[in-house]
Amino acid sequence: MHDTLFLFGATGDLAQRYLFPSLLRLLGDGLLPEDFRVRALALSPHDTEKFRDILRPRLEAAMPHASQEDIGNLLSRIDYRSVDLRNAESVAESVKNLVHRTCVSYLAIPPGLYISTCEGLALGGALAAPHRLMLEKPIGSDSDSAEEILQSIGKWIDEDRVFRLDHYLGKAAVQNLMALRFGNTLLEAVWNRNYIASVHILVAESDGVDGRDSYYSRSGALRDMVQSHILQLLCLVAMEPPASLEADRIRDEKVKVLRALRPLDAKHAAKDSVRGRYTAGTINGQPAQAYQPPEGSEAETFVGVTAHIDNWRWAGVPFHLVTGKRLPERTTRIEVNLKPVTHWLFERPDRKSATPNRLTFQLQPQENIQLGLMSSLAGPEWGALELQPLELELSVPTGLHRRIAYERLFLDAFNGNHALFVRDDEVRAAWAWIDSISDAWKAADLPMEPYPAGGWGPQLAHDFLPESIAADAGPE
Ligand code: BG6
Repeated sequence: MHDTLFLFGATGDLAQRYLFPSLLRLLGDGLLPEDFRVRALALSPHDTEKFRDILRPRLEAAMPHASQEDIGNLLSRIDYRSVDLRNAESVAESVKNLVHRTCVSYLAIPPGLYISTCEGLALGGALAAPHRLMLEKPIGSDSDSAEEILQSIGKWIDEDRVFRLDHYLGKAAVQNLMALRFGNTLLEAVWNRNYIASVHILVAESDGVDGRDSYYSRSGALRDMVQSHILQLLCLVAMEPPASLEADRIRDEKVKVLRALRPLDAKHAAKDSVRGRYTAGTINGQPAQAYQPPEGSEAETFVGVTAHIDNWRWAGVPFHLVTGKRLPERTTRIEVNLKPVTHWLFERPDRKSATPNRLTFQLQPQENIQLGLMSSLAGPEWGALELQPLELELSVPTGLHRRIAYERLFLDAFNGNHALFVRDDEVRAAWAWIDSISDAWKAADLPMEPYPAGGWGPQLAHDFLPESIAADAGPE
């Protein structure tokens, strides 16, 4: 197992809230090598002591049950270096005295700094075999910038030592999608266009853009969430069964789904997509301010888009993808609506009012699976059967916190397992589809629809929402 971590972006929110606490837990559980150490790197001119002083209360807050001994143990393994990531020499200098060990460099920094940082890492010897590289999403901000990053970094390190993160893949509930799909005869039998009418994938957040304005105003929900987390969920729902759980067999199947996505064009932009931005409103009884990005920013905080997967299994089945900030609750769910039965026998309810089967996977905040079935109302004697919808519900006790996802991803990268990381061709195929959407929006001049913070997005988007939510969303 690799024993040295270079953590770039060490003073940032991601590192302080999730990455260091994940390392703390892994260390406490004895899952890291005995001589594990971390070099924390960022621009601030701290020294090691100062950095440890800043990190200690953050660890205590993130991990209230951690012992002081474990916290002290982690802190003692961390040293800090100030580094200018625009300057390759500075990066090379910052890692040089540790590259005799087996190193993993983790870039929790804006993608605009990936190339210069990697150039420095290569110069300092930290990208040569057996060293590894972990890259946070997003890889670039469109196909061109992603291609530049992929090509540049590809000159310095082989694909089999690069680990591109999408932390949703580290979530147990997301991995469970594969277990449910491929471990059960029942699902696979109906998992196609003959039985499924539509699929909704929703990632709703009640949080707003908050302190991330400089990144978000250039990204928006399409690039921040749809390009990564939502497309990964779509792949897991729609992919063919892989021949094995080997990383590349899984990634081969995911990339086929991405390549089968029909590009959006200007003609279909208004029918198949909606974008919105939250205005002031109320969320959980608290007033919430409008999102006002800087002048000229096109950043949306809400996207609804219908994906059409042009392949044998899914032809004609719409996949409605929705994500938004400042929605009424934090929930990630996948709703699969089955077609009605072919011949309806019953009078009550009549064919039109019968509810077709619906399978819902709620992935967070709690993992939960629901199956809507029609069942008879028990009566004292045989008569005309009366049916009612019934919910079969299963709560699954899995770890869902983002920190836990990072623990998993750290371990897999340290151990060299790629199954939960995104391959270069996935990145390319995902951006190709995302670019088609932003191009279509531009060409069609698709308006930015306002929605009040605390509402379920713009009125126009309600058709994209899972039916269980749309029923509550109601008119504005
Ligand atoms: C990140 C996005 O990748 O995922 C954020 O950049 C978003 O905008 C976050 O809030 C959501 O992750 P989770 O695990 O809290 O659902």
